[in-house]
Amino acid sequence: MNKLKVLVVDDEPGIRSGVSRILSRFTVDYPFMDEQISFEVLEAETGEIGLDIIDREPVDVVLLDNKLPGVQGIDMLETIRKKQPDAFITMITSHASLDVAVKATSIGAHDFVPKPFTPQELKSSLENITKHLFLKKMTRQLQKEGKQIRFQFLQVLSHELKAPINAIEGYLNMIVNKQFGDNISDYQEITERSLERLKGMRGLIMDLLDLTRFETGKNPSEPQEIDIRLLAQSAIDLHKPQAIQNDISIRLHIDCDVCIYGVPDELEIIFNNLLSNAVKYNKPNGKVDLYISCDDAAVTIVFRDTGMGIPESEMSNLFKEFFRIKTEETKGIQGSGLGLSIVKKIVDIYRGTIEVESTPGLGSVFTVQLPLSGKTTK
Ligand SMILES: Nc1ncnc2c1ncn2[C@@H]1O[C@H](COP(=O)(O)OP(=O)(O)OP(=O)(O)O)[C@@H](O)[C@H]1O
Ligand SMILES: [Mg+2]
Repeated sequence: MNKLKVLVVDDEPGIRSGVSRILSRFTVDYPFMDEQISFEVLEAETGEIGLDIIDREPVDVVLLDNKLPGVQGIDMLETIRKKQPDAFITMITSHASLDVAVKATSIGAHDFVPKPFTPQELKSSLENITKHLFLKKMTRQLQKEGKQIRFQFLQVLSHELKAPINAIEGYLNMIVNKQFGDNISDYQEITERSLERLKGMRGLIMDLLDLTRFETGKNPSEPQEIDIRLLAQSAIDLHKPQAIQNDISIRLHIDCDVCIYGVPDELEIIFNNLLSNAVKYNKPNGKVDLYISCDDAAVTIVFRDTGMGIPESEMSNLFKEFFRIKTEETKGIQGSGLGLSIVKKIVDIYRGTIEVESTPGLGSVFTVQLPLSGKTTK
């Protein structure tokens, strides 16, 4: 929309040429707009000519005189609204009584400029109109993008939920049809598989609950001073059983004692997801090292693992919702692909950063930096 088309319908030649002259050299440039807006003026000396132009081409703004020789400005409003619903209509008239203003507004005029007007009055009116049209365009664009993202999200979500439901349904049918005979122990394996799929579904639902909480900005817990060392230790304790099962060691290296002001659940999610990944995508006998360091401005938390690593080509997708790397190595590993997208959202809330470095086959390093501004040190 870097050029707005302004149709001026007025029987006074002086008004038409004045508007053309003033607007031909006028531009609007707000800091929030990424482009400068200029104006192209179309002139109509009667309502009929104005309606012809409206019929023929799209216009952004109509400056409409009410006192015209033939069809009156106010009688044109309905047609303009019908034919060009997005056009911004400003009435210009010296006969603007309150009655006309009320009537014109009720049938579609957006604004009034009393005649005669100074160049400055015309310019500020056009500035406001431009801002209005720009915001309208942005809102429409955002709504469209939002709808698309929500649709994609629901598509992937339904797919993710359908797969385990189909699997469990299949296993239950095998049991109902006594496919393996009457011996209950012959159904042990498919029962275990069903339970495993249910566990995956529960994980997905828990992740979704976390996600919707951040999306809506609703958070039941209060922010408070949280000791980073205790937070890290409790996350490590939580992941110890899984690590021990796979002969993976987890070590904490912390060189500062710091409290961060935040919501415990949120900071726990960061630690739990990154530790869970470091353990889950590791190798037997692998290592996970958690380094915590601070300076005056921020606390830096590094999660280093000796796992399967992440191919360079997948790096840009890592923080997208539902993204999972599909290889032979990751085949048996459960996950919803939501963990990192949630972590990224929380880190953003804290105005922090998260970075990844990885060498396929050797391991990955996730570095989270959370600013201490507004938070206190012990
Ligand atoms: N430390 C890591 N090493 C190797 N690959 C990783 C690592 N962390 C994440 N990934 C890859 O990135 C993908 C996305 O991770 P994310 O944590 O978002 O989801 P998930 O672990 O699959 O599921 P969830 O965390 O929701 O249970 C993973 O599926 C995995 O392929
Ligand atoms: Mg994960």
